[in-house]
Amino acid sequence: MRTDVSKKPAQPDTGATQPDTVKMKIKEVVKPGKLFINGKFVNALSGKTFETINPATTEPLTTVAEGDAADIDLAVKAARKAFDEGPWPRMNARERGKIVSRIGDLIAEHAEEFALLDSLDNGKPLNETRNVDVPLSVEVFHYYGGWADKIVGETIPVNGPFLNYTLREPVGVVGQIIPWNFPLLMAGWKLAPALACGNTVVLKPAEQTPLSALRLAELCLEAGLPEGVLNVVPGFGPTAGAALAGHREVDKVAFTGEYLTGQEVMKAAAKNLKRISLELGGKSPNIVFDDVDLDAAVKGAMRGIFFNQGEVCCAGSRLFLSEKIYDEFVGKLVDEAKRLKVGDPLDPSTQMGAQVSQDQLNRITGYIEKGKKSGARLECGGERAEVPGLKGYFVKPTVFSGVKNEMTIAQEEIFGPVVAALPFEDLDDLAKRANDSIFGLAAAVWTSDIKKAHSLARKLRAGTIWINCYNMFDAASPFGGFKMSGFGRELGAHALELYTEVKSVWVAL
Ligand code: NAI
Ligand code: MG
Repeated sequence: MRTDVSKKPAQPDTGATQPDTVKMKIKEVVKPGKLFINGKFVNALSGKTFETINPATTEPLTTVAEGDAADIDLAVKAARKAFDEGPWPRMNARERGKIVSRIGDLIAEHAEEFALLDSLDNGKPLNETRNVDVPLSVEVFHYYGGWADKIVGETIPVNGPFLNYTLREPVGVVGQIIPWNFPLLMAGWKLAPALACGNTVVLKPAEQTPLSALRLAELCLEAGLPEGVLNVVPGFGPTAGAALAGHREVDKVAFTGEYLTGQEVMKAAAKNLKRISLELGGKSPNIVFDDVDLDAAVKGAMRGIFFNQGEVCCAGSRLFLSEKIYDEFVGKLVDEAKRLKVGDPLDPSTQMGAQVSQDQLNRITGYIEKGKKSGARLECGGERAEVPGLKGYFVKPTVFSGVKNEMTIAQEEIFGPVVAALPFEDLDDLAKRANDSIFGLAAAVWTSDIKKAHSLARKLRAGTIWINCYNMFDAASPFGGFKMSGFGRELGAHALELYTEVKSVWVAL
């Protein structure tokens, strides 16, 4: 399934907005969280817990056991034992693939539960968790389930009387640290390829959104994953996260989050020279020429920046517009942005929900102030949005025009619904300006000139290029960054390289 996250199919109203139904459903779905270690839910050794909140209401949803270095150590030991002695890396690859696929089936069976959990924990619209997060998570387990028995080595024609061949073996114990913007989906991107390759895992979900990963762990056991193969330890970055990145018995760490945290993870991983892959932030250019269907490009720009409240690593946050269409485009964009429905994440007609936390809200409003002071023109938004009955972290879709690429709002990742529009005239200069960023995660080009589109696709230094579309994802297509957006490619066949070691075997003939 190829999922265009820019499309939002209409969903039947399931009555989710009716308060009693919602309360009932929330009660059914939200349970206090524990650590999942060696196939069992346990308390933290310290006995500590923390609250996870619903960002739409700012009220606590439930409490979750707070893992720290001691719990991470237990989880790593369980994963180590499962890898060194357990059946998972040794079992028939086809059987392993079936189990990974079955995890996808079970997510699909519990789709509504996962959609609600992530909407409650993260603040994103239920319409999106139903149509994007959950189906893409199902897909990634099905996709990698299919890979498990197709991971093969090679025979190599070497000099002399020898047979030389390679084996592709799992890396070992993998530590995975994920962010809060797509809680279930990020767990899926990390777990599915790692498990399919025969690794064992310790996963640390983000402290803001730990609930869906814990539910997923339960379903993994039900799917037939042996004890110890997956361990989930919720906790905070500087304690649980840092302990995982630094643990000497972890062979590889995969991280998604802020580039500054990525640098910390890299330093910690250096202790035992762990393999690392990093998927960090972006400041992706979305480039619109004057020869396009303006309305389609405006829609693309809207989804590029306002999808998931702008909390997307590949958000099209720098909007480069041909001078010839600049005013008209900004006008249309502002009209659309003002019409975008910011509201209760559980209301199926909501298009933008709440930002994940008070910290994130402060960060966004801080950048908006910087934008105003820098001389950019605030065209719309620029403040919190009022949503009747909810006191959550809602922000109005915000458009700045007259932005210069060297301004802070065009250089730093805001991770919110704030777009910076920049005019351009000359094509050569354009690629240079678009590339003038420490990041290189994604870029988009809107034009009907195929030569221009493909030549820019080559010139832009980014891991994903979208032509006349935005935010397209598929489990089969690689995703990852150039420059400070990180390294390593997730998804597709490329992710198998992140989770396997190559062994060369020589046989004298
Ligand atoms: P973060 O990078 O601190 O958090 C991501 C994950 O890393 C979480 O699980 C966190 O607990 C963990 N972590 C934090 N410090 C750690 C450490 N020293 N060692 C190991 N793990 C650690 O991001 P945060 O603070 O939640 O958000 C700040 C900004 O980062 C956002 O405003 C956004 O710009 C960016 N970000 C980018 C993401 C992406 O997908 N590229 C995702 C989340 C945030
Ligand atoms: Mg939360």
